[in-house]
Amino acid sequence: VDSPETRATDKVFVFVCKGDACSKQGNPERLRVSLKQMARGFPAQALKVSYVSCLGQCGEGPNILVCRGGELFTRCTQASAEAVERTVRSALDLAP
Ligand code: FES
Repeated sequence: VDSPETRATDKVFVFVCKGDACSKQGNPERLRVSLKQMARGFPAQALKVSYVSCLGQCGEGPNILVCRGGELFTRCTQASAEAVERTVRSALDLAP
C-alpha cells in the first residue's frame, strides 16, 4: 500500500461485462450507454463506468458489478504483478 505506484481510490466503479456469454444473453453496449447517461447525474470523478471481459458469472448474464474503493496500481510494469499479488492475498485473507 505504501508503494509509490499504488494509491487507494474511493471512486465507484460500474463494470459492465461484455464477454461472449453476456453479449449473447443481452445487450451490454446498450446497458453501458444507459449507465453512462445515469452517471451524468452524479458528481464528476465519483463514478466510472467501464467494460470488463468476464465477471465469472457467465450463465447469469448480462452482468454488471458495482464496487467501491480498492487500490489503484499505476505506471505498472511486469514487476507490479508481485505487488498486485500481495494485495490479492490480503484481500483473500491469505498469508503473504
Ligand atoms: S462473459 Fe460475462 S460474466 Fe463471463
